[in-house]
Amino acid sequence: MGFRGFYLSFVLLALSFELQNLNSETLTCHVDDFRALNGFSSCLESTIAGWNNTSSPGCCTWTGITCDNSTVSCRRVVGLELGSKKLAGKICGSLAGLSQLRVLNLSHNFLQGSLPDELFSLPNIEIIDLSNNAFVGSIKNKGSLPESLFQLKNLSELNLQGNSISGSLSNGISNLSNLVKLDISSNLFSGVLPDIFGRLARLEHFSAMSNLFTGEIPKSLTELQSLISGNITREELVSSFQLHTARQGGPILSYRQISSIRPTLDLSYNNLQGPIWPDFWNLKRLHVLNLKENNLSGPIPNNLSGMTGLEKLDLSHNKLSGEIPRSLVNLSFVSTFDVSYNHLCGKIPEEGQFDTFPSASFEGNNGLCHSEYCTCQSDQTPIYSPREKKKIIIGLPFEIGAATGFVLTVIYCFMSELSFP
Ligand SMILES: *[C@@H]1O[C@H](CO)[C@@H](O)[C@H](O)[C@H]1NC(C)=O
Ligand SMILES: *[C@@H]1O[C@H](CO)[C@@H](O)[C@H](O)[C@H]1NC(C)=O
Ligand SMILES: *[C@@H]1O[C@H](CO)[C@@H](O)[C@H](O)[C@H]1NC(C)=O
Ligand SMILES: *[C@@H]1O[C@H](CO)[C@@H](O)[C@H](O)[C@H]1NC(C)=O
Ligand SMILES: *[C@@H]1O[C@H](CO)[C@@H](O)[C@H](O)[C@H]1NC(C)=O
Ligand SMILES: *[C@@H]1O[C@H](CO)[C@@H](O)[C@H](O)[C@H]1NC(C)=O
Ligand SMILES: *[C@@H]1O[C@H](CO)[C@@H](O)[C@H](O)[C@H]1NC(C)=O
Ligand SMILES: *[C@@H]1O[C@H](CO)[C@@H](O)[C@H](O)[C@H]1NC(C)=O
Ligand SMILES: *[C@@H]1O[C@H](CO)[C@@H](O)[C@H](O)[C@H]1NC(C)=O
Ligand SMILES: *[C@@H]1O[C@H](CO)[C@@H](O)[C@H](O)[C@H]1NC(C)=O
Repeated sequence: MGFRGFYLSFVLLALSFELQNLNSETLTCHVDDFRALNGFSSCLESTIAGWNNTSSPGCCTWTGITCDNSTVSCRRVVGLELGSKKLAGKICGSLAGLSQLRVLNLSHNFLQGSLPDELFSLPNIEIIDLSNNAFVGSIKNKGSLPESLFQLKNLSELNLQGNSISGSLSNGISNLSNLVKLDISSNLFSGVLPDIFGRLARLEHFSAMSNLFTGEIPKSLTELQSLISGNITREELVSSFQLHTARQGGPILSYRQISSIRPTLDLSYNNLQGPIWPDFWNLKRLHVLNLKENNLSGPIPNNLSGMTGLEKLDLSHNKLSGEIPRSLVNLSFVSTFDVSYNHLCGKIPEEGQFDTFPSASFEGNNGLCHSEYCTCQSDQTPIYSPREKKKIIIGLPFEIGAATGFVLTVIYCFMSELSFP
């Protein structure tokens, strides 16, 4: 019996089920989907538990498969979710046959090889999660991601975190006009981050942490519309995805994911240089700004205080100089603040949330302290009075954590006593 005959028998079987029991859910999937999934399965080195030809007439009941219910006898696969299924091997182009696919989740497996171009030609795809595998860059295209990716107008989430994808990030990413979340962290991307973020009007979460990016922070990151005006509120997004879900009837997962997005820019652990743009103040809806472990220099802009939604600001392990702007005391939602290991000087602000930040947030800046005696010279090297020098040498000024505070304070008082009897 040939493939067609084989499939036909499923269809007939399904139809007879249908006739016998009109209330029962039909399980038959479209022949293109059936073929595509079998092709996908045959490219893997492992078998997929719960995928077999005998248990049901078609593929809609297979593990991780969601079908829509728009047609009665031949339903289309809209979700393929096989996260954490110990899948090994490569993924091949046959997945392109899933032309109605909206959610693809193959995260947390042992998949390797390059990402086939066909994977990114799924016209209806909304969520791609390939995180935590061992994928490498697509050499064929000279860039790291296939060009066809950038035609995906419905893509709202692309997660490639935790692979070994190399090469530069293509300008074409700006064509993904519906992108809300882009996570390329923990890969081997290199080169300059393209300055194209102004076109990604819905982007709320961008993480490029732990790559090899160089050059300056793209200025267009300060123009992300969704973080400036909040034109599209998260509530609106959630309800639009809920509608979507309800209409299609399947457990389509976009809603859960999108609703958990916390507006974030994470460029930490790269080799970016140059200044922190003052224009970041525009991003009033941003919750997390993480620029840790780069090579950024220049001052902390005074008007970052405009980022009123900020909860976390990490500028540690850079080469920032000058004072901590006093205006930052106006960032009233910041609960995590870290400027350690820079070249900062002057007095640490004490009002607002600054009262609550631990000493570790300020360490490794030899010119920062809680006293008026720490000032910045015009060339931004700190000056101390002789009395203040004593405190710096002791290395335990006032910024002391609560746990060790008591003992250290006793020592500190004792030393001061000696110095200034
Ligand atoms: C086929 O799938 C059913 C349910 O998914 C399972 O109980 C059965 O063991 C499977 N059979 C094979 C041969 O894998
Ligand atoms: C299902 O049957 C087809 C046709 O015999 C075969 O090519 C395919 O590998 C089978 N799929 C699975 C998941 O066993
Ligand atoms: C993909 O599946 C994993 C579980 O394996 C889950 O943790 C993750 O949230 C899923 N991704 C999306 C985008 O739903
Ligand atoms: C994208 O989504 C819209 C609205 O949900 C839908 O009408 C359209 O068919 C989808 N596909 C493409 C390729 O635009
Ligand atoms: C991006 O879109 C423009 C038109 O909107 C098109 O000309 C260009 O080829 C697209 N780029 C890619 C890489 O698809
Ligand atoms: C953004 O806001 C403007 C003006 O309030 C409105 O005309 C436009 O439709 C909004 N865009 C979206 C995508 O909601
Ligand atoms: C699909 O499922 C939804 C929710 O279960 C239901 O409201 C809708 O009527 C179904 N559509 C069809 C064509 O069966
Ligand atoms: C922040 O600085 C930029 C550039 O110096 C300036 O255009 C902007 O008006 C400033 N914003 C505020 C609120 O001071
Ligand atoms: C850091 O940036 C400076 C220029 O500001 C450059 O000279 C230096 O080589 C960079 N350091 C590293 C480790 O890339
Ligand atoms: C904090 O904000 C208030 C109101 O916008 C302003 O008057 C005040 O000067 C700001 N404080 C600092 C230290 O910038």
